[in-house]
Amino acid sequence: MTGVKIAGVGHYTPDEIVDNFELEKWFDTSDEWITSRTGMKRRHWARKDQSTGDLALEAARRALESAKLQAQDVDAFIVCTVYPDYLFPATAAIVASRLGARDKAAFDMEIACTGFIYGLTVASSMVRAGVYKRVCLIGAETLSKLVNKDDRGTAVLFGDGAGAVILEASEKDSFLGSDLGSDGSKPELLFIEAGGSRNGMSHELLDRKADRIVMHGKEVFKFAVNKMIQATDAALAKANLTKADVDVLIPHQANKRIIDSAMKYLGMPPEKCVVNIHEYGNTSAASVPIALSEAVASGRIQPGNVIVFVGFGGGLSWGAVVWKWQ
Ligand SMILES: CC(C)(COP(=O)(O)OP(=O)(O)OC[C@H]1O[C@@H](n2cnc3c(N)ncnc32)[C@H](O)[C@@H]1OP(=O)(O)O)[C@@H](O)C(=O)NCCC(=O)NCCS
Repeated sequence: MTGVKIAGVGHYTPDEIVDNFELEKWFDTSDEWITSRTGMKRRHWARKDQSTGDLALEAARRALESAKLQAQDVDAFIVCTVYPDYLFPATAAIVASRLGARDKAAFDMEIACTGFIYGLTVASSMVRAGVYKRVCLIGAETLSKLVNKDDRGTAVLFGDGAGAVILEASEKDSFLGSDLGSDGSKPELLFIEAGGSRNGMSHELLDRKADRIVMHGKEVFKFAVNKMIQATDAALAKANLTKADVDVLIPHQANKRIIDSAMKYLGMPPEKCVVNIHEYGNTSAASVPIALSEAVASGRIQPGNVIVFVGFGGGLSWGAVVWKWQ
């Protein structure tokens, strides 16, 4: 086994910004309600002609640039997303080709908002096992295209964006531990009913907007807080570390109140937590790599820092990875 490190990181979010005041024009909501219940002030939404792959491509370009590498230097490309460019082929294959990488391994992973946490575990394992020397791991989403824009309960929550890391074989190992989980017994807690092989697509489904995100917010809220705590504890135990060893926690950005509650019950100081939800809303699989990219760019993350990446989402799914920055 070799070690793995993050050699480069980058992110991209679309230019179009939809703030809470804009949403006040759409339905009965208010900046005060959205801010106090979620911590969100703005979200970035992709243009109609901008796909998930377009955002992924730009984030990957920036990560390659920060690693001072060409796409051809990377052995495998992974895109974590719930809304790929097409049902098939994989968006990762299209992104790799557009980056100029030929004949490389490429595949997508769909674990909803926990996508990047699962992806980091899978991609790191490939590098540590010596299967690949470098993997480009991307979390990218355009959930603004999947929300029901008449449903104030979900339309305010989601934003678009992409974040990418270049994982590279290394003498020292950054990957200290991971804990992943799922419970598929109630997919309807957070799902899209139409468009898959169970229900297909029909005029009837489209008429009742069954091709859009449905969420039972209260149940998901409780689940999210519990699993953030459980996964963080379990991943730290696997890494033989304690909460006191953690320098920075980078959580999935779904709701500021979820993050605050989890930090409180974990007994960790809020200032250790990276929060950018006010700017982007919930960008699903992209939220953790976007937050990482911003934290690295601002100098908040330094060599030797112990980072916990933690996420949760549809599935239901959850997970955490403990990482030592080099
Ligand atoms: C969605 C969420 C913000 C709602 O907050 P909440 O405090 O639970 O609010 P409720 O769902 O109980 O709704 C309370 C009231 O606000 C209303 N409401 C919902 N959305 C609203 C909005 N955008 N503006 C104004 N009022 C709104 C509801 O209709 C409800 O009104 P009622 O009491 O008259 O029925 C919260 O449940 C949440 O964040 N859940 C987890 C979501 C999540 O993390 N999803 C992604 C996982 S990856």
